[in-house]
Amino acid sequence: MRIAPPLQIGPLDPDAQDAVRRLAAETADHDGVAPLSEQPLLHLGTDADWLTHVVAHDKHGGTIGYAQVDRGGDVAGAELVVHPDHRRRHTGSMLLRTAERDARLPAVSGAPGQRGKPLRVWAHGDLPPARAFAAARGYDVARELLFLARPLAGAAPSGTAQAPDGFTVRGFRPGEDDDAWVALNARAFADHPEQGRLTADDLRARAAEPWFDAAGFFLVEPAGGGAPVAYLWTKVEPGQPDGARDGEVYAVGVDPAAQGHGLGRALTAVALEHLAAVGCDRAVLYVDGDNTAARATYDRAGFTTAARDVQYAPAPATMS
Ligand SMILES: CC(C)(COP(=O)(O)OP(=O)(O)OC[C@H]1O[C@@H](n2cnc3c(N)ncnc32)[C@H](O)[C@@H]1OP(=O)(O)O)[C@@H](O)C(=O)NCCC(=O)NCCS
Repeated sequence: MRIAPPLQIGPLDPDAQDAVRRLAAETADHDGVAPLSEQPLLHLGTDADWLTHVVAHDKHGGTIGYAQVDRGGDVAGAELVVHPDHRRRHTGSMLLRTAERDARLPAVSGAPGQRGKPLRVWAHGDLPPARAFAAARGYDVARELLFLARPLAGAAPSGTAQAPDGFTVRGFRPGEDDDAWVALNARAFADHPEQGRLTADDLRARAAEPWFDAAGFFLVEPAGGGAPVAYLWTKVEPGQPDGARDGEVYAVGVDPAAQGHGLGRALTAVALEHLAAVGCDRAVLYVDGDNTAARATYDRAGFTTAARDVQYAPAPATMS
């Protein structure tokens, strides 16, 4: 009989956070794909009603599995990982069962009228173990996130990209532009489950990361002045090897009221120019599989699909 390990639910102290970071790094080395995305890693130290940390230990107390459930949005989003040396012992199943129970809790304990949320589980890279695991646990694909890439050799030289008539592009000013950016981002991503609810604190957490560079963050304003109507944020992780340096089109947001003026296309050109100028070899980005407008923009800009992440949801028959 295989006995699944004990689980510990609750906030993580700094040592426990480091153990989860090591688990994620060792899993990434083995699988070739990072099992936890940026947001759950940034939340490892967060202790909040709407966030649950679940750690699986081996009998020596080592961290062999981890799940995080975020009930802050419209759905309960979970990411979970089991160390490659400890798989097929039902640790993943226990973490998932805990996440399922957790998703039924209200976002704020004791909040009147609050109900549980539908659970969604991310599988980065959508590797065969995740696919088999999801099928065995009765989960279907609910959403697909594509990872697109294009080489930067031959990108237009600096200064070529232009804002469409009636608009100007300027650099983001940290601190001064924070609130305007939060409002613009919420308008641009009103239908987006994660991106649209970023707060000024989320922005500041990213601005404190080693990769943050205000020179790669741009705002578009109406030429006559006024609140920004679009933004482009790029991200270049430090310490990447020469010759294989990726630069991410981290986020592009256009206010719905300013859509249809070619701002998405213009900002993509600004991104390629900027990333080439700071020495990147490849431009990369994530886009929702069903975002046909954005995909058409990136197709035209020469991007192709390099990988896909999948979000799984319980198949209707298994929902309780
Ligand atoms: C997916 C993952 C969490 C599974 O963890 P795990 O502890 O090995 O899973 P379990 O032991 O609970 O597996 C439950 C069932 O899923 C199926 N399954 C899991 N991994 C499988 C694999 N590699 N091949 C075939 N079936 C598999 C089996 O039916 C298994 O039951 P069984 O062992 O009795 O046959 C783990 O492989 C992992 O961390 N992957 C990287 C992160 C990731 O993709 N997370 C998202 C998951 S949706």
